[in-house]
Amino acid sequence: MSDARLNPEAPPTPEHVAVLRKDYRPPDWLVPEVALDVVLDPERTVVRATLKVERNGDHDRPLRLAGDDLELLKVSGGEWHMDGTTLVVAIGGDSATVETEVAIAPNANSKLMGLYASGGILCTQCESEGFRRITFHPDRPDVLSRYRVRMSGDKGRYPVLLANGNEVTKGEGEGGTHWAEWEDPFPKPSYLFAMVAGDLQPNRDHFTTASGRKVDLGIWVREKDLPKTAHAMESLKAAMAWDEKQYGREYDLDVFNIVAVDDFNFGAMENKGLNIFNSRYVLADTETATDADIDAVAGVVAHEYFHNWSGNRVTCRDWFQLSLKEGFTVFRDQSFSGDMGSEAVKRIDDVRLLRAAQFPEDSGPLAHPVRPDSYMEITNFYTATVYNKGAELIRMMKTILGPEKFRAGTDLYFQRHDGQAVTCEDFVRAMEDASGIDLKHFRLWYEQAGTPKVTAKLEHDAEARTATLALTQTVPPTPEQPTKMPMPLPLQTALIGANSGAEIGTERLIILDKSEDRITFDGVDEPPLLSINRGFSAPIIVEAERRPGELERLAQSDGDPFARYEAIQELMLRVLIGGANGEAVDPDPVIAAMRDTLTSNALDPAFKGEALVMPSEALIGDRMEKVDPDAIHAAREGLRAAVGRSLARELGEAQRAGAPGSDLSPDAKGMRRLKTVSLALLAAGDPAGTAPLAKAQYDAADNMTDRQGALGILSSLDAAERQQAFDDFYLRYRDDTLVVDKWFALQAVAQRDETLATVRALTEHADFTLANPNRARSLIGAFAGNQWAFHRSGGEGYAFLADMILAIDAINPQVAARLIPPLGRWRRFHEDRASLMRGELERILKAPGLSKDVYEQASKSLA
Ligand code: ARG
Ligand code: ZN
Repeated sequence: MSDARLNPEAPPTPEHVAVLRKDYRPPDWLVPEVALDVVLDPERTVVRATLKVERNGDHDRPLRLAGDDLELLKVSGGEWHMDGTTLVVAIGGDSATVETEVAIAPNANSKLMGLYASGGILCTQCESEGFRRITFHPDRPDVLSRYRVRMSGDKGRYPVLLANGNEVTKGEGEGGTHWAEWEDPFPKPSYLFAMVAGDLQPNRDHFTTASGRKVDLGIWVREKDLPKTAHAMESLKAAMAWDEKQYGREYDLDVFNIVAVDDFNFGAMENKGLNIFNSRYVLADTETATDADIDAVAGVVAHEYFHNWSGNRVTCRDWFQLSLKEGFTVFRDQSFSGDMGSEAVKRIDDVRLLRAAQFPEDSGPLAHPVRPDSYMEITNFYTATVYNKGAELIRMMKTILGPEKFRAGTDLYFQRHDGQAVTCEDFVRAMEDASGIDLKHFRLWYEQAGTPKVTAKLEHDAEARTATLALTQTVPPTPEQPTKMPMPLPLQTALIGANSGAEIGTERLIILDKSEDRITFDGVDEPPLLSINRGFSAPIIVEAERRPGELERLAQSDGDPFARYEAIQELMLRVLIGGANGEAVDPDPVIAAMRDTLTSNALDPAFKGEALVMPSEALIGDRMEKVDPDAIHAAREGLRAAVGRSLARELGEAQRAGAPGSDLSPDAKGMRRLKTVSLALLAAGDPAGTAPLAKAQYDAADNMTDRQGALGILSSLDAAERQQAFDDFYLRYRDDTLVVDKWFALQAVAQRDETLATVRALTEHADFTLANPNRARSLIGAFAGNQWAFHRSGGEGYAFLADMILAIDAINPQVAARLIPPLGRWRRFHEDRASLMRGELERILKAPGLSKDVYEQASKSLA
């Protein structure tokens, strides 16, 4: 059967049919062992697979092996036939050895799933269902196998051959080839399989585990990138030590390798012993990466490393359980980053991201529970809900249990389920069993989509010296979930004396688990201020009734850094939303709070840097009845200008302070953040006068944080310095792909009339390509996130995005599908815009040959 790619003539597989969580059935056949023999060739790689299979349970069903885009060459081991793209093998006994031989074409693989080429390197991506693009296999996470992999190929082209586990033997072959065999002693699901071949150089180091085992570490990159791997290596060692200390988790193999590639669909992948990364999360130095980039490298390196336990040793039974590993691992990486730097600032950043990405998802057409009930294409469910809201669920359980019982829960979870493929339910049960705390009601957090909303009203009875907090909660309807039950919401709460500014009594953990409740506080002598949901203890929206002056006072005196930040943000939002709604609003309280913050001796620069960033235009829109992008833009620019003018002196001082780029302490990072935030406000107050200052910051910068910060401000200014700086930036960094991505993105986020025209022109730039996910996102994704620019020009932005989605879909459906949500938000806009947005979604749906990925997102967005 060497003649045909399986597929073209086959009837369409049930592409648009949803997979349901309730339909889960254990696998009919297990595959305890897999041996692969891979003859590497970029045009045509041949994969011979030997699967030891065992019947699982009492049934007479055949073995079904998934395949996708495989050229089948040979099968042995039983009578077989194809059912669509599935290879069906009839097996008589209870076990058998099945052999297949297929050919695949890495160079033609533009989806970047399975085995593909990135700049001459061959690498793999298998999660979720990419292994079936390498060989026939059940390819589901509850089938765990021991792998032995033989790779062979041209020694000149592929001097380095890597796979999971340990290298066991290697040798030279004929005609300038060589080969290597790798063996992974840990049974693993196919989505954790990896292999890499290429001309790579290692940054080598080692780590000695708590029990004294030496682990060889390698970060493999192209030779020229070696100097940019030091930070990732330090982060890796820090993560290994942290996981031992905080979770009692030791690394379990003798080797841990990381490979960086430039073409990658998302951030990185936790393949057992062989993590493969998007190069933007490995390569960083202060000259070419901002402080935020550098922190992201540490966070992602840690995230993938932590997966070795939360994901690999204990994996997911099925893909509906994705948050089992992702929510938990995000929580772990967030905690790690908080411990490595400023915990308060990390929390503020995480909440900002949750509100920017997850809240809109949870209130829109693609809303789904943390544990979804159905999907068409699982790749569409690697979402902010599964990852970031999932992390909030773990965080809430830790808050409810307390740190010791939480740790007992994770210990029990790892011990009980080591080597298994389990469910979110298993995680919660381990927490309950270890703590003795009933989490029955808490399970609703996994089931119900939508962001709960709480109203809070505090009343003081001076005579009785009590205060009563009246709380209500509602959970909004979401697709397929019209009505909801009240959820348990852990609310860290304190009362603060309006006169003294001191906390009254101690902080309390209120668990609001009903639609309405009243909580009484005793010993309240002075009028109290309400500090609620401190640390953002529950991922919800709180609407507290505030007395005049209350937020101003909290902004000055709340001892919880997050709550203090929140009070300042709320003050800003009142003015911004009011302004956008055409009300006359007084900016003075905001200006006063910002001045206090800026000049406070008690606050560190990192906190100030965060607190002074105004809520984004998108966030303001989320708080309005309907989003009015022009009015929002005008209100926000107006307030920024007023602040810039009123605080010019204080901002000027903060802008001049700064810190050398080589200093990566939290304070130094904070000073740099504050420097650029201040410059941005100065520019809003006096654009023409600030352009030279921005250019001066750009020119004098000894680090990317200052340089990119200045360029980001210049990008929205109509000044000669703008083009000069962009030209300089390109010439300086044109050979550094990751920095060229910034050059594209900074032009796409510009707040200017010409932005769409500029972006359109940039699609013709010699360095632009839709085939590289980072590059496509840097321009198209950044533009779609630029609310004001995207929503102007009578729908031209929508049409442009739809064109790009269709063009990308033909290359890489995963990347294309991720660009749908900006159009899917049409319900949030007035009908003039909404109908144009819908029109583009309809046009997308009519396009011939649309991928399942884009079909699912676009059709759900219209429903
Ligand atoms: N597991 C990877 C992580 O660490 C991400 C894999 C994403 N896969 C996908 N098909 N979108 O988060
Ligand atoms: Zn992950």
